Amino acid sequence: MLWLLLLQVFASCLWLGHSEVVTSFASCSQFFHAGTPPNNVLEPQNPAWICQRYSNAYHFATLYNKDKRIPAYSAYIYQPGPGARSKSWFVEPQLINPTYPKNMDTEYSLQKKYKITPQQIGQSQAINQDYNNLKDLNRGHLSPSCHRNGNNSKWSTFTLTNIVPQNSTLNQGTWNDYETTTMALQTQGCNITYVIVGAVPGNTYISSRRVNVPSHIWSAACCQTNTGMKTWAVIAENNRDQVQNLTLAELETSLTQLYGKGKVSLFDSACPR
Ligand SMILES: *[C@@H]1O[C@H](CO)[C@@H](O)[C@H](O)[C@H]1NC(C)=O
Ligand SMILES: *[C@@H]1O[C@H](CO)[C@@H](O)[C@H](O)[C@H]1NC(C)=O
Ligand SMILES: *[C@@H]1O[C@H](CO)[C@@H](O)[C@H](O)[C@H]1NC(C)=O
Ligand SMILES: *[C@@H]1O[C@H](CO)[C@@H](O)[C@H](O)[C@H]1NC(C)=O
Repeated sequence: MLWLLLLQVFASCLWLGHSEVVTSFASCSQFFHAGTPPNNVLEPQNPAWICQRYSNAYHFATLYNKDKRIPAYSAYIYQPGPGARSKSWFVEPQLINPTYPKNMDTEYSLQKKYKITPQQIGQSQAINQDYNNLKDLNRGHLSPSCHRNGNNSKWSTFTLTNIVPQNSTLNQGTWNDYETTTMALQTQGCNITYVIVGAVPGNTYISSRRVNVPSHIWSAACCQTNTGMKTWAVIAENNRDQVQNLTLAELETSLTQLYGKGKVSLFDSACPR
């Protein structure tokens, strides 16, 4: 009897100890330089840490805002390469029910498998319907498919948990130039490039206040070169077609002001400011 009781106490301590040491992005810390995610200033009130899994492999990491139904940021390693764009959009099954599978899936497939409605799927995340009939805004990738290599990896970026309503002119204009031209220039000589792309929540919404329209979209990178570490950053207001080059320190200062919740740190201290 005593033995059983002791075992129970021991087991519950183990359980508590266990949940304390588990880091938020435990299964996907490899997408952050030195395994260090941004500090908690960017953390929303109702967050979800998503290790973005497609076809039984992890491809990037997302901190998701379940109230505003947009990502706070996605983090990935820059590896552009060939492959096709996805024809379908995915959602995150574990935001519907933690017992659902880890791989992202389509709304259609989840509706059939679990006999659930789009409303149930959309409880804590955006769904396709939210992005229909938009004027001047379209689906903006945080982790873009053009920075991925191979079909599966490109397709994994087509999850709505990686998407924000983005000014379509910006998305197809200077933001696209940044993703393609500037990133290719900046990463010359980089051995491995860690990228974080984020969205600052704004004051407007789409889809009957379901999904927030961010005020700003930003990107920061830290890379290893033969001569040391190198960083760069950009920010864009989400209502005009203009991307501004910044240092990492300048972006962190801007985000500190925009969030007003303390000093923002995006990368560990090895990434120069
Ligand atoms: C990638 O997807 C495209 C379009 O579905 C297909 O034609 C192509 O064969 C795929 N490539 C590989 C390597 O599987
Ligand atoms: C590039 O990174 C790989 C993996 O971290 C490492 O093995 C290699 O030595 C690095 N090469 C250079 C030139 O830094
Ligand atoms: C999007 O950007 C364009 C180009 O700067 C601007 O004319 C338009 O008003 C913007 N629309 C929205 C909804 O932000
Ligand atoms: C930002 O920097 C990149 C790389 O140096 C450069 O190609 C681009 O023209 C700059 N963009 C602006 C708006 O200054």
